[in-house]
Amino acid sequence: MATPRKKAVARPAETEAPVKVDIAGGIAWVTLNRPEKRNAISPALSAEMIRQLDLLEVNPEVGVVVITGAGNAYCAGMDLKEFFRASDPLSAEEKAVFSRASAQWQWRRLNYYMKPTIAMVNGWCFGAGFNSVVSCDLAVAANEAVFGLSEINWGMIPAGNVLKATVTTMNHRDSLYYTMTGETFDGKKAASMGLVNESVPLSKLKKRVTDLAKILLDKNPTTLRQAKHACKRVISMDWDASEDYLFAKIDQMRFLDPEQGRQKAMTQFLDEKTYRPGLGNYKK
Ligand code: ACO
Repeated sequence: MATPRKKAVARPAETEAPVKVDIAGGIAWVTLNRPEKRNAISPALSAEMIRQLDLLEVNPEVGVVVITGAGNAYCAGMDLKEFFRASDPLSAEEKAVFSRASAQWQWRRLNYYMKPTIAMVNGWCFGAGFNSVVSCDLAVAANEAVFGLSEINWGMIPAGNVLKATVTTMNHRDSLYYTMTGETFDGKKAASMGLVNESVPLSKLKKRVTDLAKILLDKNPTTLRQAKHACKRVISMDWDASEDYLFAKIDQMRFLDPEQGRQKAMTQFLDEKTYRPGLGNYKK
């Protein structure tokens, strides 16, 4: 039987910004910052995420964006009080406006972000918390993180595209199982099902994510962007459309890449014989 929750005691009002950003060495660490509410997504948090993602996208000091949570949670999903209860009395039109901001950053914005993104899942991750994990390009979880599609436990379905995020990464049987049972699973299980790329002990999580971010920082940023967008776009295309799209992307690269990386790499491999593309990056 589940441990009963303590009766709510009066807590100080939130005084800190709902999102914290620290930039170091080309990496922007974006922390969902409502630890006392397990980083549940409130309208204020959504508004601030949109603002911060916009700022970071054009900040030349930032090459990679990492999203994580303050305290022992990554994200406990939508804020049941400030989002669901508050929107219950609204009309359908008002609800649509209300929920647009949360969808905006959780998947629309992140899915095709101009810079590489990594979700660093440090703890509790429920419901809508899945969205940013899946929308980020890569995801690393702590073994100790606890995931759950808890919607079934409170009379909801995993909406707001949570189910779409789930079936996009996890297989059909696992998606159905966790959607229907609401059972929790840990970081290792999340990695084995493809919801995250890998899981490591919590004590090593930040180091692993930093190392991963450094690998990305070393790549040609234009190529990285085109490659990750292509990865996401071709899924819904047929083979002909995909071939055409990918060739068009290559053409586009010739004009978009200020580094002219392809040319440099060709010269270094074919003429100068100074590197092997199979084993690492060209010299910038
Ligand atoms: N929405 C609003 N408040 C929340 C949420 C949430 N999703 N999650 C936690 N909180 C609040 C609690 O109400 C509590 O507030 P209080 O201090 O004012 O009473 C505080 O955060 C701490 O919560 P506890 O339950 O006491 O924390 P605990 O560490 O024991 O448990 C856990 C953490 C497992 C995450 C639990 O809070 C929980 O089950 N939360 C809800 C998870 C969920 O179902 N999310 C919705 C998913 S569906 C969707 O996103 C569409």
